[in-house]
Amino acid sequence: MTTMTDQQAADAIRAHHGQMAAALRGLVADLEAAVRTQRDHRAAHDGLLAYLRDELLPHAIAEEGTLYRAADAGPAAMLVQAMRDEHVDLIEKVDAFDGVTDALEALALARVILALFYSHLHKENDLLVPALQADASVSLAELLGGMHELLG
Ligand SMILES: [Fe+2]
Ligand SMILES: [Fe+2]
Repeated sequence: MTTMTDQQAADAIRAHHGQMAAALRGLVADLEAAVRTQRDHRAAHDGLLAYLRDELLPHAIAEEGTLYRAADAGPAAMLVQAMRDEHVDLIEKVDAFDGVTDALEALALARVILALFYSHLHKENDLLVPALQADASVSLAELLGGMHELLG
């Protein structure tokens, strides 16, 4: 951990994002399978909800306090402002998903969350992380200091 370079930190952030996207995709697929075969969808709903609450939202909070804060004073300030808004949007969708009981509505919301998350990840991986790597005043490795929520 102490010997991690900024490039390794950037790679770890992207790898962790990839794992999260795959986990989310799998859980949404489980929900879709339950709905399509008209099985009780509650277990799949609960599984997806638990992942969103226990993994995705803590990840968002952790990066707001580290990566986003580090970008606030630099050229990516407007980007992170928009990305904080996307976090708020994600939280609202997760709350709505929590409250929905209808299977089709739950699946529709799950797909919205997945699509939002994909486009959000793209900004983090391909815009924000490179912007922070290019900022000489920021060390990604020091900033993250082995944070499990961001590095996996
Ligand atoms: Fe984020
Ligand atoms: Fe992220």
